[in-house]
Amino acid sequence: MNSIIEISERLVEIEKLIAEGRMNCAPESEPERQYYYMAKLREHIERKKQELGRPLYACTKTFGCQMNARDSEKLVGILKIIGYEETDSEKADFVVYNTCTVRENANLKVYGHLGLLSNYKKKNPDMMIAMCGCMMQEEHVVEKIKKSYRFVDLVFGTHNIYKFAELLYNRVAKNAMIIDIWKDTNMIVEELPLERKFKFKSGVNIMFGCNNFCSYCIVPYVRGRERSREPQDIINEIKMLVADGVVEIMLLGQNVNSYGKNLDAPMTFAELLKEVEKIEGLERIRFMTSHPKDLSDELIEVMANSKKICRQLHLPVQSGSSRVLKEMNRVYDKEHYLNLVDKIKKAMPDISLTTDIIVGFPGETEEDFLETMDVVKKVKYDSAFTFIYSKRTGTPAAAKDNQIPEDVVKDRFDRLLAEVQKNANEQTKRFEGQVQKVLVEELNSQLEGYVTGRLSSGLLVHFPGDESMIGKIVSVELSEAKGFYYLGQLCKS
Ligand code: 5AD
Ligand code: SF4
Repeated sequence: MNSIIEISERLVEIEKLIAEGRMNCAPESEPERQYYYMAKLREHIERKKQELGRPLYACTKTFGCQMNARDSEKLVGILKIIGYEETDSEKADFVVYNTCTVRENANLKVYGHLGLLSNYKKKNPDMMIAMCGCMMQEEHVVEKIKKSYRFVDLVFGTHNIYKFAELLYNRVAKNAMIIDIWKDTNMIVEELPLERKFKFKSGVNIMFGCNNFCSYCIVPYVRGRERSREPQDIINEIKMLVADGVVEIMLLGQNVNSYGKNLDAPMTFAELLKEVEKIEGLERIRFMTSHPKDLSDELIEVMANSKKICRQLHLPVQSGSSRVLKEMNRVYDKEHYLNLVDKIKKAMPDISLTTDIIVGFPGETEEDFLETMDVVKKVKYDSAFTFIYSKRTGTPAAAKDNQIPEDVVKDRFDRLLAEVQKNANEQTKRFEGQVQKVLVEELNSQLEGYVTGRLSSGLLVHFPGDESMIGKIVSVELSEAKGFYYLGQLCKS
């Protein structure tokens, strides 16, 4: 059971049991326990709506990565099933911030937003505010909220997101700030409601947490140890999504290449992909993120032979300097990375490679930086996410005393960005004039009469079309390469 309709029907049954006095307390087992709280909240929200004589609106703001985006779909699923209408405006009755803490600026943004919310709450005293996600896993953040942002109603973390309904119910019943943060968990709760942002594509978690401990990264501390979902649960979820109109899925994990190692019956990521490929009606498979140290020959072979796995691989390099990579605890060096890229390109000459790069890691010299530039020139990425190193309290790199001056980092960052853009332009040109399959995603907001679709490589193409094409895979001629995207023309079949 997972569809909103099935869960709604279950809630109606539970509401009846509660009304008849046959269910007087929350069941112990999950997800039944959460269904109980959803039923209780439904009743509460309905009463509130009648009191106010209007609908109640909820706004969920998501910061950070695809994992967080997927988590937010779970939050929205619960909010909708208990009776809230969705809105983009933060002047809502309930605002949820699903936060990120990977870099400090993501963190600062949240505090900025909170200031704004306190004003809205003064005008609407019934308004509720919840904070969750990665930032909440940091003790100093929760302390700050307790001290300086007393108007926040609910604080929870990444491990107990499935308990959202129960926590919200406690907040309503006790009328006091609720804080519930877990350090870690080995629980994975299936079968909760979920509201997808797109009808035709969806993320699917295959694992949670991370065991790598890269020395700059806070993720292992806020997302906990690696846990893989059972393959059958993943397959069932994808089959259900396909039955509901999904044609493209993105398998999600911090390090998908180490999928399955901790299962009772261990399974490799490549084996999982082969099973996913068999699902009828599923057209496209993507995944992220890959760690170069765990990317196997088996995976390259499965990708190369697949009809469904997209020709795109996000392979974060972080730095081109073997010395820096060692300091980063990445467990591969420049040579290993470049050999891996060669192998991948040999097996799939049309592959689109993308990456993440950090500039200004403590102790990075000009020579180290030039090694990074060299990797970028050699690999020729289709695109790269470039980040300025951000010191994250609690990580080993934050304790290093050789932090790089801001002006030096800025200069390196600009040079790197110019190189990345030059490569991206050249790379886009290589498909110019070709006809490729495109999944139409949306109406183009800038060009009237145009739609936007995504190629197997992940690049976008804008071409004349209409709403009826959204969610369909069509053939498009890539008439003009524009750097990071194409302009195209629909082809007959
Ligand atoms: N500073 C800058 N960038 C970081 N990333 C992770 N931690 C940091 C940090 N402390 C980047 C990495 C990672 C991406 C998701 O964020 O490049 O791959
Ligand atoms: Fe995602 Fe990491 Fe940011 Fe958490 S800290 S939202 S896992 S990028």
